[in-house]
Order: sequence, then structure tokens, then C-alpha cells
Amino acid sequence: MIKVKKRKFLLLPGDGIGPEVIGEVKKIITWFNVNKSLDFDMEEALVGGASYDKHGTPITDEVFYKSLECEAVILGAVGGPKYDNLDFSKRPERALLKLRKELKLFANLRPAICFKQLVEASTLKPEIVSGLDIMIVRELTGGIYFGEPRGIKPIDKGERKGINTHTYTSSEIKRVARVAFDLAKKRNNKVTSCEKSNVMEAGQLWKEEVQNLHDKEFKDVELNHMLADNCAMQLLRNPKQFDVIVTDNLFGDMLSDEASMLTGSLGLLPSASLGAKNKDGEMRAMYEPVHGSAPDIAGKGIANPIATILSFAMALRYSLDLDKEADDLEKAVQNVLDDGLRTKDIMSKGTKEISTSGMGDAIIAYLQK
Ligand code: IPM
Ligand code: MG
Repeated sequence: MIKVKKRKFLLLPGDGIGPEVIGEVKKIITWFNVNKSLDFDMEEALVGGASYDKHGTPITDEVFYKSLECEAVILGAVGGPKYDNLDFSKRPERALLKLRKELKLFANLRPAICFKQLVEASTLKPEIVSGLDIMIVRELTGGIYFGEPRGIKPIDKGERKGINTHTYTSSEIKRVARVAFDLAKKRNNKVTSCEKSNVMEAGQLWKEEVQNLHDKEFKDVELNHMLADNCAMQLLRNPKQFDVIVTDNLFGDMLSDEASMLTGSLGLLPSASLGAKNKDGEMRAMYEPVHGSAPDIAGKGIANPIATILSFAMALRYSLDLDKEADDLEKAVQNVLDDGLRTKDIMSKGTKEISTSGMGDAIIAYLQK
């Protein structure tokens, strides 16, 4: 394993609003260095469409190499309509998938928390979402995203066949379920495991292995199984029944977008993608907002940087064990919301609109206090 440089972040702004939201994280890293002498090191590189435009590939070997030697990657967003017709291997999203797969970031943590100040921003009734605090644990390196065989193949008479394969092994299921159970123990001690065991063998195996692990090692954690379609429905009907949801790569992708809207805006959801710890306790990790590149609002200074800033807080917590600093940063976000300052996506009556950088500055002003 390549030696990891402690406290070094690789910033990959990517495309669309990525550079704008990462710009705010840069300010925060600098603030910690100047005011808390934390000696964070940061390096920035191209990824996604931005890398394709310059180098003809969504991620160069050099950048991939850099990702191996930093303690955490902080990514903005990748993709945009400009790249929609590119060959699959050149698409911006491939960079993201390569980083996830090759860094072995199998556990994707996507917390969906409805801040009390933003209850009104959700399209759901306040009593349904207020106080909501769910953690979705999405398996990130297996399932249909990576299964073989895959491709588009000609069959006879001009017909073509698109093929993707959904596979999971016992150990892939158990390692991500273990992350979910461990998290639940520090939260409300409840795990809901979602699959389609009524239709898919891989779903049946998922259910069995999660149950096996539970019975062996996590008897004290409450476990229930839910079909993924039912989970989608239950998230809207009564989201507060959930504590930790553990699910596969594809269902996790969809359910986390759905969960984000419970919180008011996709612009609020951070995520952490974590690998296994090695014998020295080191772990590879990438942190990114759940939202995408939002090309329609890119460059306008209206993107919400909170999801990316909270992703950085997760980096402080999970990669660097800097819980105090993570708490301070999360608290500063809360304070800004308390003051009624909002980016456009989370505006409501009686609040004041501020820009992307205005939001970063306001958060820093509270860190300073
Ligand atoms: C996500 C995104 C990605 C995914 C895309 C951009 C490849 O939707 O992180 O949720 O599908 O995993
Ligand atoms: Mg998604």
C-alpha cells in the first residue's frame, strides 16, 4: 500500500457546481490551518468532464495515484449534458466509479437529517419530517453497478440486448452490514435491511447473510428486513421509523435521493465513502455531497455548499478523528441556519438569501466566534 500522507486532502472539484462548492471547503480548510494550526495539506486536481476536456479521460493515472497517497479525497460533482453522448468509458461518472472501486470504498454513509430550521423547506408535512435523523448505508463497490457480464450486444435482426449483472457475495454483504450494525450501536440501535428477496436470488442471499451476521455478532441490535419498494414507500409515509438503513448499490442510490428530499433539499446531504481499516488503523475514504453537478445553476453563485461542507465535517470525523472540529463545523452550519440565512434552494418566508460564497463566509464567521 502506498504510504498515506496524514492530514492531506485531495480536492477534486469536478464539473458544474463542483468547483463552487469545493471553493467553500477550501476556505474552511484554510481557516482551520490559520486559526487552529491543524496543518492540513491540500492539493487540487481535475476529475470528470473537466479532466476529459483537458486530457481526454475522466481521470488520469496521475490523479488516481494522488488519491492513493492522501488521507481523504473530497469530491465536488461530476457530469453534465455536454458529456452525455460520450462512450461509456469516457463519461465523467467513470472517474467516480473508478475511485470507489479501486480505493475499495465499499461503505457509503448517507445521513439524512432534517434540520429543525428547514422543516418548512421539505415538501412533506412538518410533523412527518421534523426531528428526522436517518443513516443510509449504501454498498458501493458491488451489485449491478459493477457486475459482469455487462454491455450492449447485437442479437439477430437488428435487435440489441443491454446486459447488466447484479451479483453479491456473502463477504461483500457482511462487511457492509457490519458497518451498519456498528453505526446503529452508536445511534438508535436499529437496522433495516432492504433488498428484493421476493424477486432476486442476490436479494435472498443479502437477507440471509445480514440475518446470519446479526445472529452471530449483533444480537442486541434490532434488525428488520424490508423489500426495497416498500422501503421507498415507507420513507414517505413514516420516515421516522428508520434509524440505519443498509442496502445495495442501486437501491441505495435511489433511496438516498428520496431521503434527501425529506430534509428539504438535495443541497444539504453529505456522504462518506469508506474502505476497510488496515492493521495500522488507516482507512481510505472519499467524501462528497450526494447532489450532482447541477449544470443548470453552475457558475451563478447560487449553489448550496452545505452538503459539501458537511461532507468535509464527515472527513474530519471519520478519517482524522477530529470529532471536536467536526462538531464545531456542524454547529456553525446550524447557527447560520438559525440566523435565517439561506441559499436559494432552501429559501422560505422570512429568510434571507445569500450566495454560495456568502454561505461559506457565514459559516466561517461562526467558527470564528
Ligand atoms: C450518486 C450518483 C452516482 C451514482 C452517479 C453520478 C454515478 O448518483 O453518487 O448517488 O449513481 O452512484
Ligand atoms: Mg445518486
